[in-house]
Amino acid sequence: MFNTMTFTKAAGALLGAFLLFLLTSWASSGLYHVGEAEDSSGGDHEVAQSDKPMMSAAPGDLLAKDDTGGDAAAAEEETQIALGDGDPAKGEKIFGKCKACHSLEGKNGVGPHLDGVVDREVAAVDGFNYSDALKSHGGTWTLEALNEWLTNPKDYIPGNKMSFAGLKKAEDRNDVIAYLQEHSN
Ligand code: HEC
Repeated sequence: MFNTMTFTKAAGALLGAFLLFLLTSWASSGLYHVGEAEDSSGGDHEVAQSDKPMMSAAPGDLLAKDDTGGDAAAAEEETQIALGDGDPAKGEKIFGKCKACHSLEGKNGVGPHLDGVVDREVAAVDGFNYSDALKSHGGTWTLEALNEWLTNPKDYIPGNKMSFAGLKKAEDRNDVIAYLQEHSN
């Protein structure tokens, strides 16, 4: 017959052995997983992935895109130059860049007055001391001539004394010419 004391000892021993088994198997499985993780992170798999983005960003692709973008911008620039189509209200604001030197009320300043400048003869304002370059240029300020002058004054009439870099945007030139045209009657 088992007495209670024998039973308790046996149960305790069994339980202890079972706990020890659980503990060691948990510890060893933990170690095993750590080892496995190290293996996969150092494998070929990762290297192969990081190669991919480098292949798709070939320098040739980028150059090709730049070329087409430039062509599109140039084409757009050309279609915008419909001379005489500018917006005088916008042109008035752009004329703010000219005001320091030019008036539209018949008075000369640093530059000659510009009222009536569209279709006026080049260097024709009485009492203004034009440069030789402008005086000897001849011709009239047509829309085309004004457009080229305002693109780059130094290129259009070398040696002139208008200290102004030019209006790079065709739209801006068009608008300011429209504003000048309004004051040309
Ligand atoms: C820093 C002063 C200055 C600014 C800014 C300036 N100009 Fe002039 N401009 C001059 C001078 C000076 C002349 C005369 C050039 C010469 O004799 O060589 C002139 C000449 C001209 C002429 C020729 C006039 C004629 O009678 O033949 C036109 C047109 C003209 N400017 C338009 C403009 C417009 C439009 C702007 C603004 C977008 C502008 N200018 C900005 C100083 C200026």
